[in-house]
Amino acid sequence: MIVGIPKEIKNNENRVSLTPSGTRELVQRGHTVYVQHTAGINSGFTDEDYEKAGAHILPSIEDVYGTAEMIIKVKEPIESEYGLVREGQLVFTYFHFACDQQLTEAMIKSKSVCMAYETVVDRQGALPLLIPMSEVAGRMSVQEGARFLEKPQGGKGILLGGVPGVKPAKVLVLGGGVVGTNAALMAAGLGADVTICDISLPRLRQLNEFMPKNVKTLFSSAHNIEQELATTDLVIGAVLIPGAKAPHLITRPMLKLMKKGSVLVDVAIDQGGCFETSHPTTHAEPTYEVDGIIHYCVANIPGAVPCTSTLALTNATLPYAVKLADMGWEKACETDSGLKKGLNIVNGKVVFPAVAEAFGWKI
Ligand SMILES: NC(=O)c1ccc[n+]([C@@H]2O[C@H](COP(=O)([O-])OP(=O)(O)OC[C@H]3O[C@@H](n4cnc5c(N)ncnc54)[C@H](O)[C@@H]3O)[C@@H](O)[C@H]2O)c1
Repeated sequence: MIVGIPKEIKNNENRVSLTPSGTRELVQRGHTVYVQHTAGINSGFTDEDYEKAGAHILPSIEDVYGTAEMIIKVKEPIESEYGLVREGQLVFTYFHFACDQQLTEAMIKSKSVCMAYETVVDRQGALPLLIPMSEVAGRMSVQEGARFLEKPQGGKGILLGGVPGVKPAKVLVLGGGVVGTNAALMAAGLGADVTICDISLPRLRQLNEFMPKNVKTLFSSAHNIEQELATTDLVIGAVLIPGAKAPHLITRPMLKLMKKGSVLVDVAIDQGGCFETSHPTTHAEPTYEVDGIIHYCVANIPGAVPCTSTLALTNATLPYAVKLADMGWEKACETDSGLKKGLNIVNGKVVFPAVAEAFGWKI
């Protein structure tokens, strides 16, 4: 198959969808890989690295879309790319169609085959192409939270791990899924006093089994969260109710319970945020203050560490990319029902029910 790797052009997106190592894997299996000039540069890969792995470099994005049978990307195509996607072309990337009607209509019009990372399912029913980015965001959330607790950054001026003779900071993690678990482990590793809340008792039981001693579990309720806030320095918001807006677990009046200079990191901001006072921010201006509490609500946290994020993402996507290239999407979907769940739009028709429902369409 002819595989094309365009350079990501969405604002501040520095990841690339295939590494030189992945290129080598595809080329060894008899596929042809075209990579757009400098596509990997912000993730640490030069054109020469790709050429050594067997890829051909193309000068422009038009060349890549014009040549490839399968496009592998990271982010959804943006407006300037809509017209480049061709009939019958397989596009394998994050799409998040349900929150973007314009993109959905453009991809219907293109008559391409849209395979969305975010809806591919593995044998356990988990979302294998979302997990790596949640792992990165969870770990980053604590690193960023620690930074903004520093006085020069506007925080109260407290060190997460404390020192001998001085108590560590208190971290409250709301949601014990992938983001929350990685955040709790990171905070605990730095020596903080960590509490992790979830509404799922089975999940709290699991967490209790493997978390280190400085992580306690707590059932998530408004009462319990309020009780914690008075002594918490850093809150990580990591809840997810699949397909729904995140619930507001910390309301504006609850901010008054916290000490000034405390930090809220809302990782769930991409689902609307789990604090009432959250609104999306960017890496250029990551924080703002409400009632003396620092809010960090960056919607694409993994974008700040593209070298790590690219490797984490492509470790997960490559086996699927290989399967799609080897078999073509129809055969690959016949043999892997979880991959088939990734199909969102096929030759001008929406085939993923939640996308149609989001816009009130019938399928
Ligand atoms: N900002 C970013 O860059 C970024 C990156 C990756 C993921 N995310 C987002 O982070 C969020 C969490 O993702 P995840 O992969 O950890 O999801 P997940 O499904 O693994 O975990 C979510 C957890 O929240 C729990 N939960 C639901 N309601 C709750 C409540 N009221 N109180 C406490 N816990 C509750 C669930 O039981 C579950 O354990 C999602 O919104 C995801 O989109 C954001």
